[in-house]
Amino acid sequence: MELVFATHNRHKLAEITALAGSKFIIKSLADIGFEGDIPETADSFLGNARQKVQTIYQYKPCNCFADDTGLVVEALDGRPGVFSARYAGENATYQDNVKKLLQELEGISNRKASFITIVALILNGKEHFFEGRIDGEIITEQRGDKGFGYDPIFVPHKHRLTFAEMNDDEKNGMSHRGIAIKKMFDFLSH
Ligand code: IMP
Repeated sequence: MELVFATHNRHKLAEITALAGSKFIIKSLADIGFEGDIPETADSFLGNARQKVQTIYQYKPCNCFADDTGLVVEALDGRPGVFSARYAGENATYQDNVKKLLQELEGISNRKASFITIVALILNGKEHFFEGRIDGEIITEQRGDKGFGYDPIFVPHKHRLTFAEMNDDEKNGMSHRGIAIKKMFDFLSH
């Protein structure tokens, strides 16, 4: 089965392609010739995932999916949440966002945080949603150079390595996006 993944993020594309196995062929936006921006202006992960997948479906009706992910920090009342990509400003880099978060948490002992992903799938014109979540902690300094985003400062519950210190299989096997995507693949397999 062919599925178009509505993302311009090459890290996400690599993660999902690795999880897909031989049953699913993951097509990128480049494969279908989509070069435009994908809006994400909703106020929830589900709203954004839906907006992303609908943008692609309107461009080319096909079986397609999108994810929206954010980091939810307990001591910050759930921030950065839906603003995870632009936490330090509109054109913020991953580093800018990580540094801002570390500054905001300076001196705060509650370091609990969770990554939450909603995957939106359009299959034969009908929408389906899948959720993945992983709880963990924000450490006080960056460790590791793999992954992307907030990976260097996130240590999953009951683990010692940050996501940025884990290899792809380790991260994908337990991550928010891995969990949500596996639910989608299970659904598609039945
Ligand atoms: P998006 O809107 O789903 O692309 O994700 C928003 C932001 O969340 C990204 O720009 C990253 O900063 C962060 N993010 C998403 N997924 C991950 C992940 O797996 N690890 C670390 N950060 C992530």
